Amino acid sequence: MYVCLCNAISDKTLREVVRRYQPKSIQHLRQLVPIGKQCGKCIRASREIMEEELQHAPLYKEIA
Ligand code: FES
Repeated sequence: MYVCLCNAISDKTLREVVRRYQPKSIQHLRQLVPIGKQCGKCIRASREIMEEELQHAPLYKEIA
């Protein structure tokens, strides 16, 4: 499913980016993927996906 229609960013892409880089904020996530750069309607859904994914992601320390 597309989260950001303007830039064709899917929820799968967002989840992969969040798992890999574990962004600390929506601003950090926006530096990693071009969400919210046009109409901005995807920001809320992106934040929800980021928070949901971070709850399930193991801490970086646990992986290393
Ligand atoms: S839907 Fe993401 S910027 Fe428009």
